[in-house]
Amino acid sequence: MSERIESVLQEKRSFSSPEAFKAKARLNDKMAYNRLYRQSLDEPDTFWGNVANELHWFEPWDKVREWHEPFVKWFIGGKTNLAYNCLDRHLNSWRRNKAAIIWEGEPGDQRVLTYQDLHREVSKFANVLKGKDIGQGDRVAIYMPMIPEAAIAMLACARIGATHSVVFGGFSAAALADRINDATAKAVITADGGFRRGSVFPLKPAVDEALEQCETVESVFVVKRGNNDVAMQAGRDHWYHELMDEVPTDCPAEPLDAEHPLFILYTSGSTGKPKGVLHSTGGYQTYTYLTSKYIFDMRDEDVFWCTADVGWITGHSYIVYGPLLNGATQVMYEGVPNYPEPDRFWQLVEKYRVSTFYTAPTAIRAFIKWGDAWPKCCDLSSLRLLGTVGEPINPEAWIWYQQVIGNGNCPIVDTWWQTETGGIMITTLPGVHEAKPGSAGLPFFGVEPAIVDVDGNEQAANDGGYLVIKRPWPSMLRTVYGDDDRYRAQYWSEIPHVYFAGDGARRDEDGYFWIMGRVDDVVNVSGHRLGTMEVESALVSHEAVAEAAVVGRPDEIKGQAIVAFVTLEEGRLGNEDLRKALLQHVSKEIGAIAKPEEIRFADALPKTRSGKIMRRLLRNIAAGEEASGDISTLEDKSVIEQLMQSG
Ligand code: WTA
Repeated sequence: MSERIESVLQEKRSFSSPEAFKAKARLNDKMAYNRLYRQSLDEPDTFWGNVANELHWFEPWDKVREWHEPFVKWFIGGKTNLAYNCLDRHLNSWRRNKAAIIWEGEPGDQRVLTYQDLHREVSKFANVLKGKDIGQGDRVAIYMPMIPEAAIAMLACARIGATHSVVFGGFSAAALADRINDATAKAVITADGGFRRGSVFPLKPAVDEALEQCETVESVFVVKRGNNDVAMQAGRDHWYHELMDEVPTDCPAEPLDAEHPLFILYTSGSTGKPKGVLHSTGGYQTYTYLTSKYIFDMRDEDVFWCTADVGWITGHSYIVYGPLLNGATQVMYEGVPNYPEPDRFWQLVEKYRVSTFYTAPTAIRAFIKWGDAWPKCCDLSSLRLLGTVGEPINPEAWIWYQQVIGNGNCPIVDTWWQTETGGIMITTLPGVHEAKPGSAGLPFFGVEPAIVDVDGNEQAANDGGYLVIKRPWPSMLRTVYGDDDRYRAQYWSEIPHVYFAGDGARRDEDGYFWIMGRVDDVVNVSGHRLGTMEVESALVSHEAVAEAAVVGRPDEIKGQAIVAFVTLEEGRLGNEDLRKALLQHVSKEIGAIAKPEEIRFADALPKTRSGKIMRRLLRNIAAGEEASGDISTLEDKSVIEQLMQSG
């Protein structure tokens, strides 16, 4: 890591929450936020103790927090159960018959599960797992399409104390095998297949292939969804629906230690081998509960829709656990946003009267590219709050989201967090804070972030640096599964005595955080380290540009030269004139220092199935090298070929 990251993006607009939203918001003044924020830092035990007590504990804790850097424990001695808090807790109230999950399959089929229904299915499946000798101390891999059984499987594990490891259904057999082996999983829960872009993508065959290399798996549970042909290995493989017919509906939730390992979720590290981020029970439930409640202003009458896949942390925290802890009603959708047409999401918003919509900037940029006509044909008037997560959002895309989707009526929460943080860490609170397009905002309760240099010295306002968190929070990862050394090295060593998030950022004069992307997504041009996101934002603010990705290419004179990969709006042509216009535009927006050395036009950018641009691949292509490393998570491999030829 070298010294400084220069920040050049200058975005001055800011937007208050609309009055109508403010009037009803759970929190609606800055004084209240300031008071709670101060309390969360000055008296963390009282603050978090009070929050945790809104949930059910079989036995109270003796101590709220124990911190021996870099290992933390929360609610020591307490006994609780996350599935109990998501389900049983609501059964004694009118919520018993409230919709918990409104699900729609890609072909258009629909299912609604009330809290009572979900409780019954989870209890039954927990009994199925117990019947195969799965319980506390075991790991279970979940490899599923976006169907209610994915949530049921997770909750059933949580109910009996088995640690789940959800592996995104888009990963290859090899990636699945690595993760099963790293976690030494005893069982796999999967489906025959799921629907995506109009056809069935098989999952069970990938499990079969993976298991040729895995020795620890004793049972495979298969949900019937795609109706594709699958092989069933006698003794090992079981149809979910058959076993569900044979078990009782009653399965009491196991009182579990607050620090009981709830789940492992693998995330890519800079060194290639995925890291098994380990989360535990009591702190995670407390934090996802509170963030959902305040950041999404979650109410009983809301219909909440987070468009992530359960295979990512966003799906864990804001599809399954956070909303259910709050007794919310939520939409879950199986397929892609542009099947059968690019208005599918908006059709769903209209049909189910979605009030809170949470998605990713990459999706928003795709919507922009497909054209305003699609959302404009649907009635989106039920929306009252919008959110984004996953990467910095370009101010232009932010404004589009606010205007075209929100019709100017909805606050937008840009939420910064990570697989490792378990829940949202930096955001504006709707009804309280002004939002600045492109800035995630301010710290959530209990979060103490800072911008520092490599030695840990805090930077002045607007000076770029490394984003760190100065104290542990309840849903902090506990370790890298099976590898405490890697945990320490990755998060607690580069900069002394703080959690190092791996992102570059700056904090402005109002205390707002502006994330500039991963520190390895930084280019160094003539000694100036520039956040690639800022150059991308400048490009995207040109009317011809749909999406841009910027990487550094080694350059003898400048150290690194900027190479921009650009996709264009429908009907625009990538010719020499446009190239010149874009260079001029970037010069104008940021300065000549940020002017790309090279602009390559392309039909698409290489992305992971979760929508993140694979800049590592673009760096290879920009440098004229073969694409290196693991490309098993790439959504569309033909994109690479095309980009190589575009140079
Ligand atoms: C990036 C996703 C800017 C960041 C929840 C972080 C963001 C990484 C934002 C974590 C945001 C996430 N603004 N950047 N609102 N949200 N990021 O583990 O670089 O998949 O470190 O967790 O995404 O990605 P992960």
